[in-house]
Amino acid sequence: MKFKQICVLGGTGFIGHHVVERLAEQGYSIKLLSRARERHRDLLVVPGVDIVEANIHDQAQLAREINGCDAVINLVGIIKERGFNGTGYRSVHVDLANKLIRACQAKGISRLLQVSVMGADASRGSSYYLRSKGEAEDLIAVAAKHNMLTTVFRPSLVFGAGDHFISRFAEMVKKAPGILAIPCAASRMSPVYVGDVAQAIVEALPDKSTYGKTYDLCGPHTYTLGEIFRYFSELTGHRRWFWDLGVGGSHVLAFLAELWPGKPFTVDNYRTLLTDCSGSTDDLKSFGIKPHPLESVAPLLLGFDHRQSHYNHLRRRGRVRVG
Ligand SMILES: NC(=O)c1ccc[n+]([C@@H]2O[C@H](COP(=O)([O-])OP(=O)(O)OC[C@H]3O[C@@H](n4cnc5c(N)ncnc54)[C@H](OP(=O)(O)O)[C@@H]3O)[C@@H](O)[C@H]2O)c1
Repeated sequence: MKFKQICVLGGTGFIGHHVVERLAEQGYSIKLLSRARERHRDLLVVPGVDIVEANIHDQAQLAREINGCDAVINLVGIIKERGFNGTGYRSVHVDLANKLIRACQAKGISRLLQVSVMGADASRGSSYYLRSKGEAEDLIAVAAKHNMLTTVFRPSLVFGAGDHFISRFAEMVKKAPGILAIPCAASRMSPVYVGDVAQAIVEALPDKSTYGKTYDLCGPHTYTLGEIFRYFSELTGHRRWFWDLGVGGSHVLAFLAELWPGKPFTVDNYRTLLTDCSGSTDDLKSFGIKPHPLESVAPLLLGFDHRQSHYNHLRRRGRVRVG
């Protein structure tokens, strides 16, 4: 089967940008559905890309927009909801997946790739976020039993150009007044490079051996959140004292931060962090991908020379003064 025209939902986001660029490199025509076309005009310079403004939560509109496409990639996801009771996550993750499956079936599109997250589990997930992502995975599994050609990806924390992670963590370390309180410092994750995630998705698209399968996408090293902050402290040269808030303190911080404008951290984020998000690189390697470690990308993204920062890291460990 040959896929030419690919519809991407959530293709304007962080991972979406990288997926779209790789699809374009492979010569696919790409239709992006977005709530705000003008905000993402930068993507229009990518060859073969068309952005269509659409309300993808409207079943009829969604079906109309995906009509004529050969495959759909769903990258839509949120990490914060407006309310507090999980209905926002359900609407964006579960209801949308349901509508998308129905739209694909109505328009005779069988190939569907879904991006979920490590730790997603409909019944045992520790947060609304993880449970809703798990429910969406379950819907995809049912669709696979009804002749849909599905593939699901479960990345750990994703890093790379444009991420929600490296620059934010580095900025937090920089701004901290000598001491930085870290919620859920013991949470474990295996950060994975966005280029590796995008490559796996684009390689899987035409690959029949991926039909009906689920892939965990993890980087080569597992860290605790506390270790990641310590690494950014060493990398940027901003020596800080880190205060592990523990489970109780993290819960209280999340409760208070949720009331802050913009909700910088929520109780649901805290509950998500209670789930181990680490794993092995086996699935990425099955695509022939050699996963990039965080240390090979973060210094470049923060404007540091990679080798120099590595030597500085070693010198600091040996307590030698760095010039
Ligand atoms: N980033 C990570 O570390 C990470 C880790 C594991 C899994 N994931 C999963 O990977 C996927 C992509 O993540 P990302 O970091 O690239 O996300 P992102 O940058 O926040 O982008 C998500 C996209 O989804 C669309 N979207 C957001 N809310 C929506 C809503 N209410 N209705 C319709 N569309 C909406 C947005 O498109 P428009 O604004 O154009 O409409 C946006 O471009 C998500 O499913 C996420 O759960 C991410």
